[in-house]
Amino acid sequence: MRGTAAPGVPVALDRWEGRPIQDWERHWGIPRFEAYDELSSTNERLRVLAEAGAAHFTVVTADSQTAGKGRSGKHWESAGGMGLWISFLVRTESVVSPTLVPILVGLAASRALERLCPSLQPGIKWPNDIEVEGRKLGGILCEGAGRGVVVVGVGLNLRQGIEDFGPGLKERAASVEMAGCRGVNRSRLAGELLSAARSLVDPLPAFLDKSLRREVGDRDTLTGRTVRTELGIAGKAIGIAADGALLVDVEGRVEEIRAGGVMAIEGKLSRGT
Ligand code: BTN
Repeated sequence: MRGTAAPGVPVALDRWEGRPIQDWERHWGIPRFEAYDELSSTNERLRVLAEAGAAHFTVVTADSQTAGKGRSGKHWESAGGMGLWISFLVRTESVVSPTLVPILVGLAASRALERLCPSLQPGIKWPNDIEVEGRKLGGILCEGAGRGVVVVGVGLNLRQGIEDFGPGLKERAASVEMAGCRGVNRSRLAGELLSAARSLVDPLPAFLDKSLRREVGDRDTLTGRTVRTELGIAGKAIGIAADGALLVDVEGRVEEIRAGGVMAIEGKLSRGT
C-alpha cells in the first residue's frame, strides 16, 4: 500500500492491474498515479491532490466509487469491476471554456473506445455524454479547482449487462459489452484515454480547429434532432460551435447554448443507429 493508513481513510494501492503503480506512471508518462479499491469519488480525491499542488496529468482511479458524481449533482453508478472510473488533472495558462473541455475529453474517450473496439462507433451527446446506439455508455464531469485548474472525471461502462443498471437507467444506459465488444482491458483503455486526452488538451486549444470540428460534427448525436435544453430553449440542434457551445435553431434564429444539458429530444439519431 502507498501512503499512511488512518481509520476510515482509503489507502492507495501499490499495484494496479498486476503492475506496480510506478510502472504505470512511467508507461503513461504521467507525474503521479493513485489507484484505489474504493473511493467516494475519484474527482473528489483529485481535487484534494490539486489543492495540495498536484501536477498536470496527475491521475486517480478506483475500482468502485461509493458516491460517484455525475453532472448537475446526479449520482454516477460505479460498481466494482464494472467500468473505468478515472480522473485526471488539467492545469492550463489558457482561459478555460466550460463547454470546450468536456467536448475534447468526449472526443478522447470516443477515440480510445474505438481503438480498442473498432466496431463501436461512439457518439458524443452534448454536453458530456458518450453514446452508443442511442444509449449512454459514458459520461464526463469537468470541475474547476481554481484558476486554470480542471479536474476531469471520466466514467465508462464496460461490463454491465442490462440487469446491472438501477431503475431509470435500464432504459437508457449501455456498456461496452452490451454493445458487443467483449473483454476490453481496463488498463489499455485507461492508457488510450490518457494518450488521446493528452493530444487534445495539452496544450488546451482556445477553439476546435477545422479538423476537430469535423470530427466532433461526425460524432455529434444531436444534430438534426429536436431538443429542449434545461434552460427551456427548444429547437432543432444544428451542430457544435468552435468553443463547444450547442447550436440550436429556434424558429430561424441560432441560439448558442453554453449551460445546462438537453432534456427532451425527438428525432432520428445521427450516429450509432
Ligand atoms: C455524467 O455523465 O453526468 C458525468 C459522469 C462522470 C462520472 C465519472 S466516474 C470518474 C469521475 N469521478 C466521479 O465521481 N465522477 C466522474
